[in-house]
Amino acid sequence: MEEHIENPMPRIGDKAPDFKATTTYGDLVFSEYNKGSWVILFSHPADFTPVCTTEMSGFATRHNEFKDMNCKLIGLSIDSIHAHVAWVNNVKKNTGVLFDFPIIADLDMHVAMKYGMIMPGEATTAAVRAVFIIDPNGIIRLIMYYPLNVGRNMDEIVRALKALQTADKHKVALPLNWQPGEKVIVPPPTSVEAMEEREKSDFEMVDFYLAKKNI
Ligand code: BEZ
Repeated sequence: MEEHIENPMPRIGDKAPDFKATTTYGDLVFSEYNKGSWVILFSHPADFTPVCTTEMSGFATRHNEFKDMNCKLIGLSIDSIHAHVAWVNNVKKNTGVLFDFPIIADLDMHVAMKYGMIMPGEATTAAVRAVFIIDPNGIIRLIMYYPLNVGRNMDEIVRALKALQTADKHKVALPLNWQPGEKVIVPPPTSVEAMEEREKSDFEMVDFYLAKKNI
C-alpha cells in the first residue's frame, strides 16, 4: 500500500502557515518574524552541498538589497542546528561570506510539510528549492519551486519582490520581463466612460486594454 504523506500545497493568496522553529539566530515564531515586513522563506535540500552553497551565498551577498526593500530572509533545510552552524562556519572560513539570516533546522519536517516543500517524487527526506514571498500582512504573494539539481536565479527573486511592491504601491501590473524603472501596465478600464478617458490619455497604448505609463 502506498504511504500517505500529509503535504498540503500552500497557494498564492493564502495566509502563510504559522510555526515555531529553531534557527541559527535562535528560536522564533514565524508570525512575529513577519510582523511589519516582507519575508522570503526559502528551502534548500541539504547543508554542505554545492548548489545550496551557491544559493545561500547569493542570498547573503544580496541581503542588504532585501533589507532596503523591508524584506527579511529565512532559510530552511531538514538538517540539525549543529549541521547548519558548522556549514555557516565552513562557508565563512572558505569564502568570507556569512549567512547572516536565520536558517531553520527542520529535522522533524514540520515546517517543510506545512509549506509543501517535500515532493516525494523528487525526495522524501529533503526539501526541494522553494521560495515563498510573504507580505507584511502574512499573505503568500508569490511561490517558486525548483528541483534539487537546478539553482534559482537571485536576480529574478529580487525582481519579483520589487514587482510585487511596485504593483501594491501604484495599483498597476507588470509586463513580461519588467525591470524596475520601466513602464508599468495600467489596469484596463471597467466602464465605457473610463475607456473614453483612456483614449484621450498620454499612456503608451496598443489598444485601450493594454496601456503603459511611467511611474
Ligand atoms: C546541491 O545543493 O548541490 C544538491 C543538493 C541535493 C541534491 C542535489 C544537489
